[in-house]
Amino acid sequence: MEVQIEFWPQGKKVKVRPGTSVLRAAQMARLHITTRCGGQAACLMCKVRVEKGYEGALSPLSSAEARKLGPLAEEGIRLACQAKVIGHAVIHLPEDPLKAAVRKKLMQQTDEDSLW
Ligand code: FES
Repeated sequence: MEVQIEFWPQGKKVKVRPGTSVLRAAQMARLHITTRCGGQAACLMCKVRVEKGYEGALSPLSSAEARKLGPLAEEGIRLACQAKVIGHAVIHLPEDPLKAAVRKKLMQQTDEDSLW
């Protein structure tokens, strides 16, 4: 039996076998999550946010993940390389850093333009 994982803001859905990592599921959906440590819970670059109400759709926090995330874990943040999908899940991916920088610059420009 497969479970469905849905990624936002892209709205992409993919069916995976229970126990698949969120990182692997994102790759199967052809979505990019930045990593640097190869899934060893060391770089913290693969942080994703679980939609409220879907926390139980992922494996419980491992002690290593809880230690790495600290208080972020209470806000629904998980490490995509460590969290395993065990039920229908809705996950929010972070904005690409380059896109975020461009968007921030455009917003600054808009604010400056509105002063004139
Ligand atoms: S890939 Fe490095 S912490 Fe998840």
